[in-house]
Amino acid sequence: MSATYRFPSGFLWGAATSSHQVEGNNRWNDWWEFEQSGTLPYASRNACEHFERYESDFDLARSWGHNAHRLSIEWSRIEPTEGEFDATALDHYVKVIAALRKRGIEPVVTLHHFTNPAWFTRRGGWTNPQSIELFARYVSTVASRLAEHVRFWLTINEPTVYVMRSYVKGDWPPCQPGSWLRAWRVLRNLCRAHLSAYAVIHECRADVMVGLAHSAPYVVPHDPQRLADRFAARMRDFALNDLCFHLVGRRALDFIGINYYVRQVVQWRPRGAKALFGVEHKADDPLALRQFSSLGWEVYPQGLHSILARFSSLGVPLMITENGIATLDEELRESFVAAHVREMARAMRDGVEVLGYLYWTLFDNFEWTEGYAAHFGLAAVDATSQARLARPAAALFASICCSNEMNQTQLGRYC
Ligand code: FCB
Repeated sequence: MSATYRFPSGFLWGAATSSHQVEGNNRWNDWWEFEQSGTLPYASRNACEHFERYESDFDLARSWGHNAHRLSIEWSRIEPTEGEFDATALDHYVKVIAALRKRGIEPVVTLHHFTNPAWFTRRGGWTNPQSIELFARYVSTVASRLAEHVRFWLTINEPTVYVMRSYVKGDWPPCQPGSWLRAWRVLRNLCRAHLSAYAVIHECRADVMVGLAHSAPYVVPHDPQRLADRFAARMRDFALNDLCFHLVGRRALDFIGINYYVRQVVQWRPRGAKALFGVEHKADDPLALRQFSSLGWEVYPQGLHSILARFSSLGVPLMITENGIATLDEELRESFVAAHVREMARAMRDGVEVLGYLYWTLFDNFEWTEGYAAHFGLAAVDATSQARLARPAAALFASICCSNEMNQTQLGRYC
């Protein structure tokens, strides 16, 4: 890439969060109930108290030059009991959006980020054919109140990850592994829910951009010469990257949110479901110099270029709605940010339309089954005082956001 890459004016820069991970005390959802069951050694409790501290958190984002911010609306706050909508909770999110706008920060709003109201889960959750209407009713309530203030909407966060964790691996609520048919039904219902939410939001306001956030691993065979590895990688890639878009179709997508973290190097295993989707090869080969985050996710910036090029063929603009690393190695975090922004810039130079880049995440938060042990934040959080403690990558990222360019100084040190 030439020395400096200038991003288009109005390019969106910021960080992404989700309600349950940062707000605290989301007592009416299925994750909260799961945390109380004692299966996990962790509970979200008061999380980062973002529900109360959002103004100062947005001051911090603004001080780092962010002009966009991704947040999610907590369905279980809006509709804690089936059919009863809480006006105070809706007012809260109206204030949150206004607080962003006041600071010149564009809100990117997710309507479903893994958590469901406990009553919805008791009614069968996403296995229930009525889930689509139930979700649409909630979306209609939120959109009729917020659409005039929100241009960018994400209906559902990572449908495939939700299905894999809740219905295939089964370590997320409602913890129902064991049936491929059920997993398939859930994916289909989530995609149908996207379609109806897409229509509902556009009825409230025509000129908005509605998409979903897709988790896009870069999947490759371990040994490209080996047919079995190529087969397993192709099957896995189809399940994780293609299937959802076959179900949704490109007409109900004004943009696609890309959540990119990882390369998966896949090896064939001759038994069970693994024969179809293979297993990840993670062994640290010193010659290959592979780097992994503290969660064992392989750092592979070039994969972002490939993923962007691939999804741009669907013909709608893309937005990086998550990209980040769990680590306490701050140099690694800085080089991660620099290298991924560089790969995005390369893809844009090659003609891919990207609307923005949102780092996951603003500050360390409740990382699902990892609890508070995964450190993705641009800032750490002191668990006692709740102070936000900026990490070095926050300054590097701020320099990119403020200049709207990636120059040799930012790159040179890290890549
Ligand atoms: C994504 C999720 C997000 C967070 C990051 C690390 O899959 O959307 O909530 O857990 O991974």
